[in-house]
Amino acid sequence: MLETVRWITAEGKVLAGCEEGVQLHPGKLRIIDQTRLPQELVYLELDDIDGIVAAIKRLSVRGAPAIGCAAALGLAACAQHLSEKDFLPNIGKLADQLAASRPTAVNLFWALDRCRNKENMEELIQEALAILEEDIQMCQAIGRHGAPLIEEGMGLLTHCNAGALATGDFGTALSPMYVAHEAGRKFTVYSDETRPLNQGSRLTAWELHQSGIDVVTICDNMAAQVMKEGKIDLIIVGSDRIAANGDAANKIGTYGLAVLAKHHGIPFYVAAPTSTIDASLEQGDLIPIEIRDAAEVGAAEGVRVYNPAFDVTPNELIAGIITENGLHRSPYAFG
Ligand code: MRU
Repeated sequence: MLETVRWITAEGKVLAGCEEGVQLHPGKLRIIDQTRLPQELVYLELDDIDGIVAAIKRLSVRGAPAIGCAAALGLAACAQHLSEKDFLPNIGKLADQLAASRPTAVNLFWALDRCRNKENMEELIQEALAILEEDIQMCQAIGRHGAPLIEEGMGLLTHCNAGALATGDFGTALSPMYVAHEAGRKFTVYSDETRPLNQGSRLTAWELHQSGIDVVTICDNMAAQVMKEGKIDLIIVGSDRIAANGDAANKIGTYGLAVLAKHHGIPFYVAAPTSTIDASLEQGDLIPIEIRDAAEVGAAEGVRVYNPAFDVTPNELIAGIITENGLHRSPYAFG
């Protein structure tokens, strides 16, 4: 499978993670440009705050945990260009610029809040590294807790990309699939295309196929029919922000899938690290929803477009939330 995150020290020593994806090189954030997958595997090396903010905005790096890791490592990369005396007066401003890139994934703010109050470069690097390391551990634990849900011969459905490209390691929703696959179980994953930016068909199908998991791409509007045909036994999706009551924001279209799942009696699970839980929000309608550019939708000229990037699935439609701490069942009370 695609390995995604690597920390490289100034001396070139690899401290964590792997061969490809979000990496910190001295003074540079190195990422795969996910907008160009699966046609091309292109890396970007970003050494300034405007470039990193723009990369997050246009989804060159995306997925809630990966955004958090990229922000922390990106802040460290930018700070490496500051002199010792300029560090404290500037670090907060740089963090504010990164925080303004996207509004929904709470991992971004969670990671920046951990980094912005550091006293010096060394502390900042250690914190960014800790965020990355924790994300790797969280992905692996989510995989272990979620894998028992996946039985031999099952059909699974997922939406958007909550895999290796979206996190520091194996992913969230896809991590149980990788663990079950490693254990030798055979199953099929239906990957929603995920309009308008096709993270499912471009990224999820690509990464699962590379790892040898049987994957089938479907257009979003086929999900109901595929469920009715009895092809889906289990749904697992990721999340960008989970409120204290378990309401979960994820890529637009997720809520509709949960409603369909209820109708067809299919268990619907959310997998996310605790860094995605925003216990300060009592319920999901308080989660800020990003509205993206009309051009992404591809409407006829002059026609108005509404393009919310996320929706919120109410807790009562969620059979369980898989975090690194285990499988949580309703009633959810994160705090
Ligand atoms: O707009 P994106 O591509 O960043 O949206 C990503 C998602 O909605 C993912 O499902 C979510 O971040 C979970 S990632 C492990």
